[in-house]
Amino acid sequence: MRADIAIIGRILTHGGERVEVSTPYGNVRAISSRISGRDVIVIPRHGDSHLPPHRVNYRAIICAAASAGAVRIIAINTVGSMISPPGSFVIPKDFIEFTKSRVSTFYEDRAVHVDMSEPYCPEIRTALIESCRAEGHEPYEGVYVCTEGPHLETHAQIRMLRSFGDVVGMTGYPEVVLAKERALCYASICLVTNTAGDGQVDLSQIMSVESKARGDLARIIEGTVSRIPGRRSCRCCRALENAEL
Ligand code: HPA
Repeated sequence: MRADIAIIGRILTHGGERVEVSTPYGNVRAISSRISGRDVIVIPRHGDSHLPPHRVNYRAIICAAASAGAVRIIAINTVGSMISPPGSFVIPKDFIEFTKSRVSTFYEDRAVHVDMSEPYCPEIRTALIESCRAEGHEPYEGVYVCTEGPHLETHAQIRMLRSFGDVVGMTGYPEVVLAKERALCYASICLVTNTAGDGQVDLSQIMSVESKARGDLARIIEGTVSRIPGRRSCRCCRALENAEL
C-alpha cells in the first residue's frame, strides 16, 4: 500500500480497504483509500477500542503514516474553544502542552532537538484554510493547548489556559512533534465541540456537534487533499538538518 497523504482521525470514507500496518511501536489499523484522486491512508487515532487520549500510541501512528509513504499528514482533532463557538473550525498555528505521561520523541537515546518555530506545515494550513472557506466556514487560527486528560478542565484551569492559548484538546501532542521528528508535513483542523470553561461539558453535546459536522468535515478534507501541492516547498522536509548535537 502506498499513500501520498495520511489523515489521522475519524472521517467518512467512501469504500477503502482495511489494512494493518506494522511498525516498531506496534501494529496500526487503518483504511487505504482514494480522496480527490490521491492515495490516502486514514488512521483512526483511537483505534477500534477507542483508546483514551493518554493511551494512544502516537509513535506507531506517525510511523504507520511514514511507512505507507505519506509525507503529508492532516490531523483532525476535537477541542473546547476559548475563542469560537461550537461547530466552528480552528487551524492551529502554534501549540503549548501540559501533558504528563506521554512518550514525546523518537530519539530517546540521542540528543535530537527539532526546531519548533513553525510546528504546523504552512502549505497544509493554507490548503485547510482555503478549503474551509470554500465550504462556507471562516476558520479561526490560534494556539492549541494540549492537556493530559482524560478529565475535562476545571474552571480554574481554563482561566489559566486562556492566557496561553485559544483551544484546548487532549490529542494534538505529541503527534505534531513526532511528525516533525520524521520531517513530515503536519497540520491540524480542530472541530470546536464545546465552549471551554462555560459550565458543565456534556459528552452527548460533543458527540452531537461531531456528528452534525461530519459531512462538512469530509468535504473540507477532500478540498484540502486536492489543494495540497504535488511538491513540497515548505521547510518541513529539512527538520532534521542540524538538529542533532
Ligand atoms: N477539553 C479538552 N479536550 C476536549 C474538549 C475540552 O473542552 N472538548 C473536546 N475535546
